[in-house]
Amino acid sequence: MTRGDLERDFERFKREFPPDIAGHVRDAYGIDLSARYLGVPLPHPIGKGSGQLSLNAGQLEEDAAAGLAFVVLKTVIAEDAAGTQSMSAWAIHETKMKVEHREAADGRQGWTVTWKGRGWDRTLAEYMTLVRAGRALHASTGMPAIPSVKYHLPKLAEPFHEAEYQFTTGRLAEAWGAPPLLVEVDFSPTLAGDRLADDRAQIIRWLSEIPGRIRAASPMPVRIAVKLMNARFDDAFQLEMMDACADADTLVCFNRLFDPARGVAYGGWELSERNLRVLDAFTIRPSAHPPIRRLSGTGNIHVGRLIAEYALRGCESVQLHTFFQLPLSEYPATEGSRTRRALHKLIFDPGDGLVAAMLDLERRGRLERRSGLLHFLDLSRHAD
Ligand SMILES: Cc1cc2nc3c(=O)[nH]c(=O)nc-3n(C[C@H](O)[C@H](O)[C@H](O)COP(=O)(O)O)c2cc1C
Repeated sequence: MTRGDLERDFERFKREFPPDIAGHVRDAYGIDLSARYLGVPLPHPIGKGSGQLSLNAGQLEEDAAAGLAFVVLKTVIAEDAAGTQSMSAWAIHETKMKVEHREAADGRQGWTVTWKGRGWDRTLAEYMTLVRAGRALHASTGMPAIPSVKYHLPKLAEPFHEAEYQFTTGRLAEAWGAPPLLVEVDFSPTLAGDRLADDRAQIIRWLSEIPGRIRAASPMPVRIAVKLMNARFDDAFQLEMMDACADADTLVCFNRLFDPARGVAYGGWELSERNLRVLDAFTIRPSAHPPIRRLSGTGNIHVGRLIAEYALRGCESVQLHTFFQLPLSEYPATEGSRTRRALHKLIFDPGDGLVAAMLDLERRGRLERRSGLLHFLDLSRHAD
């Protein structure tokens, strides 16, 4: 197992990808890429974040065929039995997306997707059809497809609209079938830019109460991932938000930044820098703080090395969006779907890929073999 092997694999997989990526990496490099999201074991850590690339069954089928580890479906806006959505402002229809460069303050060029849309803009019934298609695909391919919901977020003095929690969670459980129900809760970057999120106490109340409300509303045991926004406050507040989610099973850290001047969410290097900096602070805090909960990383992941960086700060899996949406010329692979081409670069790039990054960490004495194997999940254990 040498750098030469990795270069050869990188070259040949540009055209034909191994059918079992994780199996190949284990056999060829002695690396166990096993990962986890919401307690579900995964063959490797790379999943797709909620968004425009997980809106229909065709996209899910293509992702499963490409060997993606998991997908989070587009965020649906909760409603009650009468179809009332208190967060209806987030269910707007907008199709036009622009994939463009975004320069960070330090001059580094990254990519961002500029888009004014928000949540799922079709009916709840149509969303449940997608959830059912995801369940069938999970059964036949092993790739989980997890729903994402934006529930009612009240002002401090207002009560939660329990009926929306009850009805939407009930419908999800019905479509999901067998327990436990898995669900991700989104707060979204446009919320960070909204006046609703001006008040810190209000945000902390949402985070501390919402998981419990979903549990109470669910007719079956449920595991909840909370996808935290990048609020427009300092890093210390990001940590406060993480602590407030004591009742969540997993935290997804952190959704895109908000540009108030342009009124849009954005990614790129500023996003990964902030996310990694906050996760650093989270992992090195004294043990008087609550124990590390299960984390999943998101933000500007376009090289395998960044997956390792998120993992070293406690993330057991990662969720990408922008890197699955670039012009084809940005991927070294010449065949297959964008998802497949992205996985090729993320895992096998001899300079920047995940395999190269883990072998480097071994050389530098930061990762050790157990029973002859390097383990991806050992990276996040370093954060404990
Ligand atoms: C066009 C677009 C739409 C998105 N929609 C959602 C959404 O509905 N719900 C959600 O939780 N995240 C949404 N996201 C956030 C992504 O899932 C992801 O967490 C974020 O973009 C950071 O990852 P990236 O830098 O790889 O894009 C969206 C992102 C983009 C670019």
